[in-house]
Amino acid sequence: MKAVDFAPFRADFPMLKSTMHGKPLIYFDSAATSQKPQCVIDKLTSCYRDHYGTVHRAVYELSVRSTHDYQEARQKIQAFIHAEQSHEVIFTRGTTESINMVAYSFGKAFVKPGDEVVISEIEHHSNIVPWQILCEDRGAILRIIPANERGELDLEAYRKLLNDKTKIVAVNHVSNALGTLNPIKEIIAIAHQAGARVLVDAAQSAPHMPLNVQDLDADFLVFSGHKIYGPTGIGILYGKEALLEAMPPYQGGGDMIDTVTFSKTTYNALPLKFEAGTPMFAEAIALGTAIDYVSSIGMEAIQAWEHDLLTYATEKMNEIPGLHIIGTAKEKGAIISFVVEGTHQLDLGTLLDLQGVAVRTGHHCAQPAMHHFAITGTARASFALYNTKEEIDRFILALKHCIEMLCR
Ligand SMILES: Cc1ncc(COP(=O)(O)O)c(C=O)c1O
Repeated sequence: MKAVDFAPFRADFPMLKSTMHGKPLIYFDSAATSQKPQCVIDKLTSCYRDHYGTVHRAVYELSVRSTHDYQEARQKIQAFIHAEQSHEVIFTRGTTESINMVAYSFGKAFVKPGDEVVISEIEHHSNIVPWQILCEDRGAILRIIPANERGELDLEAYRKLLNDKTKIVAVNHVSNALGTLNPIKEIIAIAHQAGARVLVDAAQSAPHMPLNVQDLDADFLVFSGHKIYGPTGIGILYGKEALLEAMPPYQGGGDMIDTVTFSKTTYNALPLKFEAGTPMFAEAIALGTAIDYVSSIGMEAIQAWEHDLLTYATEKMNEIPGLHIIGTAKEKGAIISFVVEGTHQLDLGTLLDLQGVAVRTGHHCAQPAMHHFAITGTARASFALYNTKEEIDRFILALKHCIEMLCR
């Protein structure tokens, strides 16, 4: 792979030119949501300003164009994740809605009382609560893959959890709270040997590394547009055709039907069966532009650059006395959760903000992962393609300054 100079890409993100409390903004919260490049902002604006008309329902030119662009966006996602067919890509509102859809529809079709669902100890609440609701609803049992002291999943324990009652395994690819990069291909293969299906929560991997659902043999894979430089309110559910065909619709309404009479309604073909109502087509089209943007840089190059940032920041942070990184897996995404002896993460986050540095603080919607480390929360720095080593240097200086103020 050819080395890519990432410096020029930063200029594509208008927000990064701003200041916070009089200091240049250092945005280290891309795991929560990423900043937007100008091309995405322009696309969204032009959809609403220059050629706005609904999809699917009309013959006039504006509608024909929106329908075409919406379908083209779907094909861009298909190519991005290497799905076999574009109708295996469903537009949703985000990762959370995608997981809820699968828990509801897959659960209704395939999960019976006494069946089992497997998740891990280091999931985002979005990949815990929908499965708890399903299990309560269907009388199924939720099993948890434990993590070790580095925040890596215990694969031996995982193998032992699986049996012929296991219907689905739902795990993240990268943990948002710890940064752990899970061996997802192996996790999927192990589940398949036991006859279980797998949902991959790719919220923290889709923006940062290449994904190939066919190579992974993922049954479902989900992610959010707003974390991959796209708009809010749009997300993806990929599902294998045969599974999506076998699952009932999640919501009823316009677009998802074939015919409606009071005695019987028949449903539309995929993907529309799962897209009831007027979809977020402007957001989907702008997500397509975000996908073009990252693809033009190259996902391998993005992964390599962010790994450089992770290594650089980890080394510098490990030199700070009293600082402990929470989540020290051998394989990690560009996420560093940390605590500092004698300080509270909220105080650290507040003081860092005053220095212009935006980091996330709290439990990161992963309370069980926090319980695993017997803490209530961390401060978290997470990187994206637009971050730089200079920013990390400034962050380290600001962090030392904050620690000094809090520990004096
Ligand atoms: C691993 C993971 N899963 C799920 C979600 C939920 O994503 P959203 O809030 O965009 O639906 C997040 C968001 O931070 C996440 O990091």
